[in-house]
Amino acid sequence: MDEAGVSKLQALKVQGEGMIREQALVAGDWVDGQGRIEVEDPAEETVIGHAPKLSAAQVETAVKAASDAFPAWAGMREFERAAILRRWGELIDRDIDGLGALLSLENGKPFAEARGEIGYANQFVKWFAGEAERLNGAWIPSPTAHDRILAMRQPVGPVAAITPWNFPAAMITRKVAPAFAAGCTVVLKPASATPFSALALAALALEAGVPPGVFSVMTGESGVIAPVLTSSPLLRKLSFTGSTGVGRELMAACAPTLKRLSMELGGAAPLIVFEDADLELAVAETVKGKFRCAGQTCVCPNRVYVHVDIYDAFLERLTARVAALKVGAPFEPGAEIGPLIDLKGLEKVEDHVQRTVARGGRVLTGGERHERGGRFFQPTVLDGGDETLFRDEETFGPVVPVFPFRTEEEVIALANASEFGLASYLFSENLNRVMRVAAAIEAGMVGVNVGLMSNAANPFGGVKQSGFGREGSIYGIEEYLQVKAVTLGLRWAMGPKPAPPV
Ligand code: SIN
Repeated sequence: MDEAGVSKLQALKVQGEGMIREQALVAGDWVDGQGRIEVEDPAEETVIGHAPKLSAAQVETAVKAASDAFPAWAGMREFERAAILRRWGELIDRDIDGLGALLSLENGKPFAEARGEIGYANQFVKWFAGEAERLNGAWIPSPTAHDRILAMRQPVGPVAAITPWNFPAAMITRKVAPAFAAGCTVVLKPASATPFSALALAALALEAGVPPGVFSVMTGESGVIAPVLTSSPLLRKLSFTGSTGVGRELMAACAPTLKRLSMELGGAAPLIVFEDADLELAVAETVKGKFRCAGQTCVCPNRVYVHVDIYDAFLERLTARVAALKVGAPFEPGAEIGPLIDLKGLEKVEDHVQRTVARGGRVLTGGERHERGGRFFQPTVLDGGDETLFRDEETFGPVVPVFPFRTEEEVIALANASEFGLASYLFSENLNRVMRVAAAIEAGMVGVNVGLMSNAANPFGGVKQSGFGREGSIYGIEEYLQVKAVTLGLRWAMGPKPAPPV
């Protein structure tokens, strides 16, 4: 990259810094808390700003505001809510560079990737603007007389959303946009590591016309905020993205108030390459899916199974590509792989590599902390070892473990031998095999000849211990709606009432 390119990246960094807001949004007001949490740049390991530590009383204020704002928001014409969502989308597009830079600063993903996430996040805003205009119900014939049943679709009520640090923008709009489209108000708790993207998006939502109280953003300690959200009878639903363990705890905490739940939890996605696959495509897509956000995604391939006939050829190509990936800080020219979010994450990745080697696996490239230090890890390819480790635990880092298989039956059994069932991937040019295997795999999502399938049209979600509920797509709005059945005793009937059924 030339000098102009380098200084443009530095200018973007400054733009991102300028978008840091150090106040939380409670009931339409920007407020301080009782103390502050430090937010770090994972690449430089420096503090980039502080977010308020809200008290339980401030969270209660936000919940009460969401409840008070609900009737008017739910009662607004769907087309008006759609227009506000569209305006929000336009403002996100307007500020896409700054939002991307801000996201890079707090998450560490390379600027180009972070900017791409803002575009991905905005897909949900635009998609659900359309869904707001299609909140159709049903007109149902009744077996009794000439009655008709009207199935009205209504918002579930004020909702809580808890989001993770790996997609500080997209996970927010994937929950908030369908909630707004349905007519729900939202109290959001973003991850403490990445609160600034959420606050910046909320500021744009207000600018777009979202009324005070409809959207509040809680920053601070989960131990203070989550109990208020889960126990409040005013909140009718919780949507959570995060680990399976935390998901279970939240579910239990929501049981007394019988909240509706959406749980997008952990994954250990299998990626299967059959002997008839397009090898170059399979390698390229594996890299694309695996190394997004330095491998810190629930949907990325956690274990790769390759047919023995093409095993060596696949490994050779994969190793060459992975070794060529450029590790760097987000605003460094050409950076493709950023740091891990924290040292705990780095240690887990290191542990997975060491356990693989201890169990007979080989490191083909990488395998160690990166020489630049801090939270950077070398992009790594592992050959063999104990594949049960990668079925049971998410690595959440830039490591691809590869294992050979011989038969379709064997690899389906391996793929399904995990408690998780979020994403899965298969590569084959044989349509019958594709359909057979896609049907047999226990996962909420199957990517066929693709390593990346995240977009607003795709119903995103898992089965088994990966959770339940779907986000995005035509199904995503259902999570925020309930059906009210209105039976109409009509008198415009054609002819006499029939005798009741016996
Ligand atoms: C995740 O893996 O946490 C979300 C990934 C996505 O939306 O693509």
